[in-house]
Amino acid sequence: MSRKYLIAGNWKMNTTPSESVDLITEISSLVGQQSQVQVCVCPPFTSLHKASSLVEQSQVQLGAQNMSAEPSGAYTGEISAEMLRDLYVNYVILGHSERRQYFGETNESINLKVLAAVQNNLKPIYCIGETLVEREENRTLDIVKAQVIEGLANFPLTEVENLVLAYEPVWAIGTGKTATDEMAQEVHAYVRGLLTDLFGDIPGSSIRILYGGSMKPENASGLLSQPDVDGGLIGGASLNAKSFCSIVDSAIDK
Ligand code: PGA
Repeated sequence: MSRKYLIAGNWKMNTTPSESVDLITEISSLVGQQSQVQVCVCPPFTSLHKASSLVEQSQVQLGAQNMSAEPSGAYTGEISAEMLRDLYVNYVILGHSERRQYFGETNESINLKVLAAVQNNLKPIYCIGETLVEREENRTLDIVKAQVIEGLANFPLTEVENLVLAYEPVWAIGTGKTATDEMAQEVHAYVRGLLTDLFGDIPGSSIRILYGGSMKPENASGLLSQPDVDGGLIGGASLNAKSFCSIVDSAIDK
């Protein structure tokens, strides 16, 4: 099953709208017209409006970093799927470990967001991954299993082609510590098995599983060479156009 690489930049709470314009412009020009690898940037909500007009003519797609599971109404401070679609957003990162850690998101609450995203033609990038303590206690596979099964409960088979997962070991995020190629592949292959159990062999093997956690130009090639690593969710290194696009180049070279 051939899966197209996706390299996604998670800008987190960085960049003002005008800084975003500069960064997207530089990334778009470096990405050029290549279409072998899909590229997506996920700026803060406040930058999406400007960003949507910039990416229109480019190969770079737009993602958001979060979304409400509710369609509309009295939810002060929240952003709905429909609001994102109106800005030509294609992807939405859901269940990032920072959302789980600081904003109380759980597999169950994230599941509602994942379902709302696909109902509104947004492609979820559903994040999973274990903490350092969980890894040290040899609980990594149990943790990701619960995240996959609970977070994807009731996920419609007809939408599997729009689903992306991101395995991000929490201890590797923003720390400079990366999972080794073998550690990443072990978990990715395990997650692939869970997905084929849930959705069947062919649909399960078509779902992209990105690696995230201190991915940078120096380690991207090794990680992207693993058979079940289908791209990257890049934090720190996505704030520099050259670093980010050098990871895109590593994927093109595969
Ligand atoms: P990092 O972040 O690349 O800075 O480790 C990845 C992420 O949190 O998505």
